[in-house]
Amino acid sequence: MKTQLALPITKVQNSRIAETDFSNLVFGRTISDHMFVADYKNGEWCDARIVPYASLNLNPANATLHYGQSIFEGLKAYRNEEGKILIFRADANWRRLNESAERMCMPELPEEIFMEGLTQLIDLDRNWVPTAKGASLYIRPFMFATDDYIGVKPSDTYTFIILTCPVGNYYNKPVSVKVETTFTRATEGGTGAAKTAGNYAASLYPARQAQKAGYDQLLWTDGKSHSKIEESGTMNIMFKINGKLITAPTHTGTILKGITRDSVIQLAKDWNEPLEERFLTVSELETALQEGTFEEAFGTGTAATIAHVQRINVNGKDYDLPQKPTDAFSHRVLAELDGIKYGLVQDPHKWILSV
Ligand code: COI
Repeated sequence: MKTQLALPITKVQNSRIAETDFSNLVFGRTISDHMFVADYKNGEWCDARIVPYASLNLNPANATLHYGQSIFEGLKAYRNEEGKILIFRADANWRRLNESAERMCMPELPEEIFMEGLTQLIDLDRNWVPTAKGASLYIRPFMFATDDYIGVKPSDTYTFIILTCPVGNYYNKPVSVKVETTFTRATEGGTGAAKTAGNYAASLYPARQAQKAGYDQLLWTDGKSHSKIEESGTMNIMFKINGKLITAPTHTGTILKGITRDSVIQLAKDWNEPLEERFLTVSELETALQEGTFEEAFGTGTAATIAHVQRINVNGKDYDLPQKPTDAFSHRVLAELDGIKYGLVQDPHKWILSV
């Protein structure tokens, strides 16, 4: 039998759970009682521990503040009917964290530290996993540079932390999106595939412009020609046109390799749904919207889950999408994913880890 990593655990003196309003959860605002922390120095990970959630002591010369060596993940845990806590695809998040780490010149995190830190933290704070339908515990693992040094170079020291927060839906209603053809999220050779803080920082200004114009999110296009649809920043994007699912491929290195995206693709293959991993061009999208071959669009992401799209702005024109039939692919795939995550249906791909 595999032995547990011996983690020193310092528990909170007073839990904040009693004062938490679980019926009114705003995404990311409420952090659970404890956090997992490990440090990297002298070329190795050390001092793995669970401690009360608290502020960090930060030196103004901290390298992350200046040069942004910071990566993160997002995954979720769910409570099933017997009170077991089910974590969705944690191994995939660990792998992607290390892909981001490599791109950002950061150290690889051993699987044992990630998985033991995660499972022991979730076990300790299991009462923070919400019980309401649709609610879950959002888990945020992240790593950042900790050298106090102003010169530009990869840091020699890092901290890895896992925080958790009880959440409801990221988007409470179907979203409106605008195809972005001026600003750029990622270019080939850049950091678009890494889940790194700078990608999100760079997206804030264009997203705010779109929000001021009444849209929830952008649909990013490729940085060279702005003619191919890539992703949506907080989520990957999928379309159904003329009976076929279409979503952008990830080989260009400009698109986040979404784990929900991958899960949806797997389910589509299981169900023999026609699926094309290829770039949808902006003009193809426009033609489909005008000619009536467009069926549906939805975002896929850990926070967003399956986010239905209700309006798309293309080349300055708004297209209001027709109400989706109840058997639309996005409804079916959301129901199946929820079934797996809450332990209500078979988990043929072994995506669930039970704590
Ligand atoms: C996630 O879905 O986990 C993400 O990291 C997206 C984030 C912008 C909330």
